[in-house]
Amino acid sequence: MLARPRRNRKSAALRGMIRENRVTVDDLIYPLFVTDGKKQKSEIASLPGNYRLSIDLLLKEVETCMKLGLKSFILFPVVEEALKDKEATYSYSKKNFYLKAIKELKKEFPESCLISDVAMDPYSSDGHDGYVEDGKILNDETLPILADMAVAQAEVGIDVVGPSDMMDGRVEFIREELDEAGFEEVSIMSYTAKYASAFYGPFRDALDSAPKSGDKKTYQMDPANKWEAIREADLDEAEGADFLMVKPALLYLDVIYLLKEQSDLPIAAYNVSGECAMLIAAAKNGWLDYEKAMPEMLLSIKRAGADVILSYFAKGFAKLVKEGKV
Ligand code: PBG
Repeated sequence: MLARPRRNRKSAALRGMIRENRVTVDDLIYPLFVTDGKKQKSEIASLPGNYRLSIDLLLKEVETCMKLGLKSFILFPVVEEALKDKEATYSYSKKNFYLKAIKELKKEFPESCLISDVAMDPYSSDGHDGYVEDGKILNDETLPILADMAVAQAEVGIDVVGPSDMMDGRVEFIREELDEAGFEEVSIMSYTAKYASAFYGPFRDALDSAPKSGDKKTYQMDPANKWEAIREADLDEAEGADFLMVKPALLYLDVIYLLKEQSDLPIAAYNVSGECAMLIAAAKNGWLDYEKAMPEMLLSIKRAGADVILSYFAKGFAKLVKEGKV
């Protein structure tokens, strides 16, 4: 036998030498849920180990993460029902605790990279990402609201805005409004290929943001479609996006691969709440080994072509790195 692939696997040193992909802490973005008040910490039942935190505790959490080498965070607001309305006005209100959280985090940790969520659903009394009229999600009426939200976030120091709503034309609209307000340095991480997935369940529990009626199928992509992701990517690129995101990640590895082949922009992949919850539940039952399965999950996303991974496992992974386990 001339060719024996096993020869290159015979020692850890050799395996390390020819390893094609590695996940590093630099690749990871850690999602955090922010709530109003003080000393507030409540666990998300369907995503154990993840919490809704008030700003004081959020600052502590970010400090802990930074010590583990994590530098990038994506923040989501948990808004009480009384503050929600049809136009999501609280999203850009000067009183918004989410904007205050961004401001305080940036002041405390100027070297961090803070990413925001731009979509109406955490603030919408309809629970949709866009403006609803007669049961319809209106596209062009939503755009100015998203832009107001993005500019308000830029004003308090956000590094990257993350439009997660899937309205047509929003990247261009937000880019123009940001530039007009003097924020040409604020980046846009666009949720380019965001699918109408059943795997956002724990996230919607965390925010209590499920749609009050209907579903998100008229704006989020059909899970059956792959080529359509290229169309979305071409548009986002032309509209000035700095990152293209695929979401969910694990169930859409083929789409990550496709966009990485098609585009020169960095590709982000969102390892969503439901994907992480499956592994957490299996590990809790003793069915999977968390310390081995979790890094393998992140690696699969990297191998598919993601440059950046958003994952609820970011902190857990950074801990394993620190302990020398990966
Ligand atoms: C909504 C938004 C969702 C997530 C991020 N932003 C849910 C949705 O579209 O309903 C899901 C993230 C996750 O499941 O981890 N703008």
